[in-house]
Order: sequence, then C-alpha cells, then structure tokens
Amino acid sequence: MPRAEKYLRIRTAAWFAFAFLAAMLATAPLIIRAESNSGARDQAKTDSKAESRKARHAVAFSPSANGGYVGSAACSRCHLEIANHFAKASMGHSLTPITPEFLRTLPIPAEFYDPKFNHHFEVHAADGKLYQSEYQTGSDGNEVFRNAHELGWIIGTGENGFGALLRRGDYLFQAPLSYYTKAAGWNLSPGYQNGDYGFNRIIQPGCIYCHSGRPQPVAGFDGKYESTPFTQTSVGCENCHGPGAAHVQAMGRGEDYGKEADPTIVNPARLTGQLADDICMSCHQIGDARVLQPGKTYQDFRPGQPLDKTLAIFQIPPTRDNPPQDDHVEHYYSMSLSKCFRATRSLPADKQLRCISCHDPHVEPTKAEAPAYFNGKCMNCHTGTSCTATAAVRQATTPIDNCIGCHMPKRDIRVISHSSDTNHRIVVRPDEPFPDETFSQTTSAMPDLIQLNPAGERGAKAAAPSALAQLLAYGELKLARPQFTASWLKALSALETSTPENAIVQAALGQRDLKDHKLAEAIDHLQHSLRLDPLQTNAYVDLSEAEDQSGHVEEAIAAARRAVELDPFVADLQKTLVFRLINGKHYDEAQASMEKYLENFPEDEFMRKMLAMAKQ
Ligand code: HEC
Ligand code: HEC
Ligand code: HEC
Ligand code: HEC
Ligand code: HEC
Ligand code: HEC
Ligand code: HEC
Repeated sequence: MPRAEKYLRIRTAAWFAFAFLAAMLATAPLIIRAESNSGARDQAKTDSKAESRKARHAVAFSPSANGGYVGSAACSRCHLEIANHFAKASMGHSLTPITPEFLRTLPIPAEFYDPKFNHHFEVHAADGKLYQSEYQTGSDGNEVFRNAHELGWIIGTGENGFGALLRRGDYLFQAPLSYYTKAAGWNLSPGYQNGDYGFNRIIQPGCIYCHSGRPQPVAGFDGKYESTPFTQTSVGCENCHGPGAAHVQAMGRGEDYGKEADPTIVNPARLTGQLADDICMSCHQIGDARVLQPGKTYQDFRPGQPLDKTLAIFQIPPTRDNPPQDDHVEHYYSMSLSKCFRATRSLPADKQLRCISCHDPHVEPTKAEAPAYFNGKCMNCHTGTSCTATAAVRQATTPIDNCIGCHMPKRDIRVISHSSDTNHRIVVRPDEPFPDETFSQTTSAMPDLIQLNPAGERGAKAAAPSALAQLLAYGELKLARPQFTASWLKALSALETSTPENAIVQAALGQRDLKDHKLAEAIDHLQHSLRLDPLQTNAYVDLSEAEDQSGHVEEAIAAARRAVELDPFVADLQKTLVFRLINGKHYDEAQASMEKYLENFPEDEFMRKMLAMAKQ
C-alpha cells in the first residue's frame, strides 16, 4: 500500500480519538492534567513559571545556603527526646526511601489483574530493591508488552495504606499499585480506576508538598525534580518551625533567650491561632481549589507568615440543601465551624481554639491513649460539668466519659485510600445541623467562592483575593464545574484592561478566544503570553490547536513539539504531536514519534495498533 494512503487510513482510524482530543484541548487545556491526575484535587497547575524562576534565584542569593534549611537530623542533636517521639508519629515517616528492612515487612511478591484494561500487575523485590511491573498477554499466550520500574519511595505510613513513587529520568511518578491496609492487599492506586495511567502519573509539586519535608521541584517543569528530589524526605522539624540554620548557629554560640521568644526559630505555640493554623492548613486543608499566588512556589511558605502570601485555598460555598460533605483533609474547615472555635476566636491569642490546642504534633497518642489524652485537652477550656448529658450515659462509654467518642465521632470516608476521619466540627450530636454561619461566608466581592485562609479577617468580612488569584481559582474550578466560567470571564476581562502585560492573563485571553473561535486573536494572545513566559506547556497546547484550526499545519506542529519538550511524559501531548505530524505528512517523524511514545507508554493499545499499521 502506498505510504500516504496508509497514513490516511491511520488518520481515519485515529479520527475519532483525535476529534475528541481536539475538542478537549480546545475547550479546556488544563483537562489534560486534571484527567491524568483526577485522584487529587490540587493538581491543576497554577504557578507562573517565569516568576517562579525569579523566586528561585532570589533564594540562591540569600546569605545562608539552601534557604537556611538544615534538615531534621541537625535538630535531633539537641532536641533528642522530641526527635525520638516525632520519628514514631505518622508525619515523621510520611515519605520513606525503600530499604531492605522495609522490604522484609512487605507482603510480596503479589499480583493484580485489572479486567477493565486486561492488564496484569506485579510487585516483587530483587537485590534489596522493589519493583512494579505491568504487562499484557495476547491470545497466543505471549506478552504483548511489559513495563517494569524500580520504586524509589513509599508515600504514606500504612495506617490506611501506602503508595509508591518512582523516578524516570528527572521526573517523579506515582506507581500504579498501592497497598490497602484494611483489605490487606495491593490494588490500583487512587484514580487508576478511571484510566490506565501506567507509570506515567506525574507527581505534581502540590501533591508532594503535603507529603514530604522538602521536595526540590524544578520550577517551570511539571513533575521534574532536582537530582536530589528531597533534601528532607518525610515531613520534618522545619516544615513547622521554619528554616533552622540561624537557630542552630545561635544555640551553638550559647545564645540564651530565657523566657522570651527565640527570634531565630518559629515556635507555633507563640503565634496567633490563625498563624499557627496556617502551618497545619498548608497540608491538612485541601479545599476545592488551591492556588499559588502569582510568582510563588509551594517552597516559598514560611511558618509564622500568613499562608495567603503563598497559597490561597478556596471552598465552594455550601448550601442548606447541599451542606459540606467531605471531611477528608478538610480539618481546618470543619474545625472553623465548631462552637469551640467560633466562641474563642475573638478572645486573646492564648485562649483561641486551634489545631495545637488538641494536637502536639511531636507526639501521636496510640488508640488506647487517645481518649484520656484528648479529654485532658478539652478540660483546658471545659470542666466536668460543662457537659449537660446525664452522668449515666457518660459513664456508659468505654473508657468512661470519653468526650471525643461522643463529640468528635469518626465516620467512613469515600476516598478510596482512607478508612475514617474524625469529625472536627465538635458536634453535640452526630446529626447536628451546620451552624448558620456555614451558609453566610461569602463576601460581596466574591459571592460564589469562599477563601478559607485570607490573611487578616476571615469569614464574611474578609478582604477579597487579588484578581489574578481569582482568575486562577475560577480557572481551576471551571474544568469540572462549568458554572464558574462566567466568573472566570469576569475576572479575566477586568485583568485584560488592568494587567495586560502578564503571561497568565494573556494565556487565559488566548484560551477564551480559542473557545470562541476567534483564532487570529487567540494566536496573538498566546504568542504574547509565551514571549512573557516561554515555559507554559498549556499555552503551547492552545497555540497548537489555534494554529491547527487556522490551517497553519507547520505552526501547529512546532507548538505541539514545544509542548512535548516541556512536558515529555504527558501521553496526550505526544499523541497530539503524532496526529499533527501525520496531518502535515511528516511520516518519518510521525513514525519515530509513535515509537518514542510506545517506549514511554507501552500500555497504550491504540497507539500500538497505529504503529503496526504504519509499519505494514
Ligand atoms: C545546639 C543545640 C540546638 C540545636 C542544634 C537546635 N536547637 Fe532548638 N533550642 C535549643 C535550646 C537550648 C533551646 C531553648 C533556648 C532558647 O530557645 O533560647 C531551643 C529552643 C527551640 C525552640 C523553642 C523556641 C521558642 O521561642 O520557644 C524551637 C521551636 C526549637 N528549638 C526548634 C529547633 C529546630 C527545628 C532545630 C533544627 C533546625 C533546632 N531547634 C536545633 C538548642 C538547639
Ligand atoms: C508538610 C505538610 C504537613 C504539615 C505542615 C503538617 N502536617 Fe500533619 N500530616 C501530614 C501528613 C502527610 C500526614 C499523614 C501521614 C501519613 O499517614 O502518611 C499528617 C498527619 C497528621 C496527623 C495524624 C496523625 C494520626 O493520628 O494519624 C495529625 C494529628 C497531624 N498531622 C496534625 C498536624 C498539625 C496539628 C499540624 C500543624 C501544627 C500539621 N499536622 C502540619 C502533613 C503535614
Ligand atoms: C493538601 C495536602 C495533600 C495533598 C495535595 C495530597 N495529600 Fe495525600 N494525604 C494528605 C494528608 C494530610 C493525609 C493523611 C490523611 C489524614 O490523616 O487526614 C493524606 C493521605 C494520603 C495517603 C494515605 C496514607 C496513609 O498513611 O494512610 C496516600 C497514599 C496519599 N495521601 C497520597 C497522595 C498522593 C499520591 C497525592 C498527590 C497525587 C496526594 N496524596 C495529595 C495530604 C495531602
Ligand atoms: C507538624 C508540625 C511540627 C513538626 C513537624 C515539629 N514541630 Fe516542634 N513544635 C510544633 C508545635 C505546634 C510546637 C508548640 C507545642 C506547644 O507548646 O504546644 C512545637 C514546639 C517545639 C519546641 C519547643 C517547645 C518544646 O516542646 O520544647 C521544640 C524545641 C521543637 N518543637 C522542636 C522540634 C523538633 C526538633 C522537630 C523535629 C524532630 C519538631 N519540633 C517538629 C510543631 C511541630
Ligand atoms: C478539639 C480538639 C481537636 C482540634 C482543635 C483538632 N483536632 Fe485533629 N483530632 C482530634 C481528635 C480527638 C482526633 C482523633 C484522634 C484519634 O482517634 O486517635 C483527631 C484526628 C486528627 C487527624 C487524623 C485523621 C482523622 O481525621 O482522624 C488529623 C490529620 C488531625 N486531627 C488534624 C487536625 C488539624 C490539622 C487540626 C486543625 C485544623 C485539628 N486536627 C484540630 C482532636 C482535635
Ligand atoms: C480553646 C478552648 C476549647 C477547647 C480546647 C475545647 N472547647 Fe469545646 N467549647 C469551647 C467554648 C468557649 C465553647 C462555647 C461554650 C458556650 O457556648 O457556652 C465550646 C463548646 C463546646 C460544645 C458545645 C457545642 C455546641 O454546638 O453547642 C461541645 C460539645 C464542646 N465544646 C466539646 C468539646 C470537646 C469534646 C473538646 C475536646 C475534644 C473541646 N470542646 C475542646 C472551648 C473549647
Ligand atoms: C455519652 C456521650 C457523651 C460524653 C461521654 C460526653 N458528652 Fe458532652 N454532651 C453529650 C450530649 C448528648 C450533650 C447534649 C445534652 C443535652 O441534651 O443538653 C452534651 C453536651 C455537651 C456540651 C454542651 C453543653 C451546652 O452548653 O449545651 C459540652 C460543652 C460538652 N458536652 C462537653 C463534653 C466534654 C468536655 C466531655 C468529656 C469530659 C463530654 N462532653 C462527654 C454527650 C456526651
């Protein structure tokens, strides 16, 4: 068969997938990420990369190396008892390298079969290393493909389960299988029910920020990390106390601050409730959208400073018909609706309820210790007679008078990897309705969204977030909830006049015009955006689409190539490039791209068939 004809067949075969992809790309470029990471809600990329690079350079010029971070090991020398306790707490081993000792505790080898994609998975150890593989067998019994990778780190403590991370080149990925403690077995990692992501699910900076001590993402390249991806693997001392170099030096010199606050280190107990909670919130409050302030990276947050300077967390306002449902990693929001919190927030700082009124993050009480431990915390504000329940019912609990058993009940959560969460709304009864305040937290400046962590006043009197932060938040929300498109457009048109020389604004204008089929305008905006910040994959994706729809085949290919260079492990980007190359009759490069694609994503049956056709 003549070559052109063969590719025409491929093109026809690919047409359905391609048309679908094109429509998807045209309407919402960020869907690529939202899709391939649909398990976590924080995934959408929101940082401005050029600005991030600036921030990185600023750190490099700072007087102390590594931004003043020294790592937890440097603290344990003098704070040995705390370090020993903390090492036993789950935060102290939130992310751990795989060691031969750990391997001995694992139930391996193990297998898992996913009937949906007819793919098999294996977990096994060899030479002190842990591997996962994915393969498929054909009807002849031969393997169609096999993809095996060494795993590098375990994420999670196994309380409910754990997952694994691996490295491919400079990129970090999630492994396809996770271990589920309750079911005592390996199964697909959260989100893999929606699609076979193989070993291609990039670990976003926003995901690993919550689970590790000090990750080293490369600004501007999603999923790419420095050659030492973590300078502190598990959550560590400096995540809550800030960089410790100055303190270590001062203590080494024998400095003594007596009862005064040590100015060289942050002690969260000396902060206002709000600033102390901001530290915990950065990892324990997911919200509906988490948006980095323009120019910031997750690494910019410093304990003692408002979280809002780095990260804004948004919540869709609940209604009485649709009250808040989730308490998984929503501890701050729940706590903020409790009577204990609301009744103390206007009191002097040392009387305010906050996370650390009940939790000493260094020490994790065992299940048996928990009731007495937390009763003691309640009693810092309540007395034995605060409770109006009868003595008889309070005596009937095990152990006796278990405050948290009645007022902070646990409930099952729907998120796959987790078992149950504790009700932090501190209810009188489990079915207690939400307080009125829950439904009146929006402001006139932002009537359809609540920012949970504005600096300064919170709730209905809060100051509105910047227009740019709003644009990013609505942009993230509208991917799954089109009702936020109008607010996104409104924020965008304000920024179009006020802040046109901004890469984010220009990229959004391009996205808007592309959707409206104003192709020439879209191309202008996207090129403008890419001049301001050339490291934006999504702007290249949109540009490629706009050029393609305009019939500019070569320009469409060039932009798609750029997107693949920037994000080399996103399958959909490479697919788009292949189709654009076929469209442009660059058959040799198309075939080479298909081969490269299958090296990276051998599990993709569709592309395997395409390549077989091309080679016929
Ligand atoms: C050379 C010994 C030494 C090292 C190393 C050290 N500390 Fe300290 N730290 C002390 C001493 C002594 C105090 C109490 C006296 C003071 O703060 O003036 C203290 C106090 C503190 C406080 C309480 C400060 C306050 O204002 O209440 C915190 C928090 C703290 N250290 C955290 C850390 C962290 C985190 C590290 C590691 C980055 C660390 N320390 C490393 C000796 C040390
Ligand atoms: C850098 C991110 C980070 C910060 C900051 C952080 N945490 Fe955590 N925390 C985690 C992670 C991750 C886990 C879960 C570890 C696991 O099970 O894998 C956790 C677990 C916990 C647990 C559960 C322990 C248990 O019973 O299983 C408590 C309680 C907790 N954190 C309280 C706090 C408090 C209070 C603060 C603020 C002072 C805080 N955390 C700050 C990441 C963080
Ligand atoms: C906003 C911070 C945040 C983000 C983002 C986040 N997590 Fe978590 N995750 C947590 C916390 C906190 C816990 C512990 C749950 C708890 O005790 O409330 C947890 C629990 C887990 C667990 C179960 C751990 C155990 O010990 O049972 C796994 C596995 C996990 N997360 C993986 C991930 C992965 C992979 C991503 C990114 C795709 C991610 N998480 C994104 C904060 C986060
Ligand atoms: C998840 C947050 C978190 C982490 C991680 C953390 N701390 Fe703390 N630390 C706190 C909080 C909160 C307080 C205040 C406790 C209080 O007084 O209620 C505190 C207080 C302290 C103090 C002063 C008061 C005291 O108890 O002596 C020292 C010293 C300290 N931490 C050292 C460390 C060291 C060393 C590590 C690492 C091994 C560490 N912390 C890890 C949150 C954290
Ligand atoms: C009024 C006391 C209290 C306050 C305030 C409080 N917690 Fe808790 N928290 C608890 C209790 C009780 C548990 C259950 C402990 C157990 O059963 O071992 C718990 C459990 C947790 C867990 C383990 C997962 C779960 O839901 O069971 C995390 C994580 C956590 N709290 C984080 C936080 C954070 C973050 C804050 C602040 C936003 C906070 N807590 C404020 C009492 C409190
Ligand atoms: C920082 C202080 C503080 C702590 C710690 C605290 N509370 Fe409260 N709590 C309050 C205040 C103040 C009120 C309001 C009292 C009032 O309205 O009379 C309150 C109210 C309550 C209510 C009534 C709720 C309602 O909706 O009417 C319950 C139940 C309660 N607390 C249980 C607890 C339990 C259980 C703990 C420990 C796990 C606890 N509290 C810890 C300060 C606190
Ligand atoms: C057997 C379950 C149970 C236990 C254990 C229990 N409570 Fe209660 N508590 C209740 C119930 C039910 C009410 C509401 C009673 C009523 O109808 O007034 C209540 C009411 C309260 C109130 C609200 C009083 C008001 O002003 O309306 C507070 C505060 C409180 N409890 C605190 C505590 C504390 C602190 C402890 C532990 C020392 C505790 N409770 C133990 C079930 C319990």
